[in-house]
Amino acid sequence: MTILSVVGARPNFMKVAPLHRAFLASGRVHSKIVHTGQHYDARMSDVFFRQLELPQPDYYLGVGGGSHTVQTAGIMLAFEKVLEQERPDWVLVVGDVNSTVAATMVAKKMDIPVAHVEAGLRSGDRRMPEEINRLMTDAVSDLLFVTEPSGMEHLAREGVPAHKVHFTGNCMIDSLVHYRPKAAETRTVEQLGLLPQQYLLVTMHRPSNVDTAEGLTAITEMLEGAAQRTTVVFPMHPRTRQNLEKFGLAKRLSAHARILLLEPQGYLEFLHLMEHAALVLTDSGGIQEETTYLQVPCLTFRDSTERPVTVELGTNVLLADLDPKKALALLDEALAGHWKKGEIPPMWDGRAAERILHVVMSYEL
Ligand code: UD1
Repeated sequence: MTILSVVGARPNFMKVAPLHRAFLASGRVHSKIVHTGQHYDARMSDVFFRQLELPQPDYYLGVGGGSHTVQTAGIMLAFEKVLEQERPDWVLVVGDVNSTVAATMVAKKMDIPVAHVEAGLRSGDRRMPEEINRLMTDAVSDLLFVTEPSGMEHLAREGVPAHKVHFTGNCMIDSLVHYRPKAAETRTVEQLGLLPQQYLLVTMHRPSNVDTAEGLTAITEMLEGAAQRTTVVFPMHPRTRQNLEKFGLAKRLSAHARILLLEPQGYLEFLHLMEHAALVLTDSGGIQEETTYLQVPCLTFRDSTERPVTVELGTNVLLADLDPKKALALLDEALAGHWKKGEIPPMWDGRAAERILHVVMSYEL
């Protein structure tokens, strides 16, 4: 059986890595990887392939940036040629990025079965490009692998036949479990001169937060306030860096002695930074899950989450408005050790890829 797995953006790589490993270990799957090139910088892509021990992709589509339409259409045109050549038994897509939906549409139009890993998540906010990608991918996929109970509920409500849907756990957590010891070996915390539980780790990249001067100004004010309390570590996504520079805020942040502005970190380095942070402040999807697994306090700058289990069971708290005062009050709580401890959600045990392999192997189309 040939399975063609599609990756495009940074959060895809750690989900496909354990699947590729499980496919190879089975001895029954010919596992091939297509990289769309949605993320193309060495620090957003190459380092992840290396650290996650992924092979060079079998196909690199080199699509790069552009508007959502340009990106999605570019991936579709290039991916169609790959599928004409390969005709795999399955196309496997992960997550909710433009590469996910683009590859799904091409495969289904060519009548090739699609398996979607991380299906069923819904923020309920259709202004988010990822929500559109999730809805469209799930509507046509043949196998849907779900990470948390809310996903099962959404798919049932949307009328997806139960036999297509499997609650298998979280492949991103598979990678975390597998690479946690290696992350510790990087000694990133020590090398940056940080003390465990005495710094705030920040990531921001969502258009709703970083594309406007108001959003970025509120973030800047909050980080300045945070730096009066503790050290702030801020690895910047390219989009955030570009916009901080555009709105003249980059200099203001870098002038502050206790704000460490970093390039995007590798997978292992970031994992180690997360594990020892007093609090993680983010607008990412995956980081809400990783901090829940690590039982590290997480404050998410969004008014909704497609991963409610991280709030219900985990360590995640949502902060709907970019209000620096509220954020700083919560930071004080975290620094004082007053945060919910959280539980690890069901099936987040490092074995999701094995379960997915088992389902795919026994599935009759
Ligand atoms: C994408 C995903 C988002 C995910 C995020 C993780 C979609 C709709 N969004 O958003 O869900 O959380 O990845 O990072 O698929 N850029 C570079 N170098 C790169 C990649 C991007 O400079 O390697 C620049 C682009 O040129 C663009 C900006 O960063 O200006 C945004 O990149 P893009 O891939 O469009 O989306 P993300 O915001 O990264």
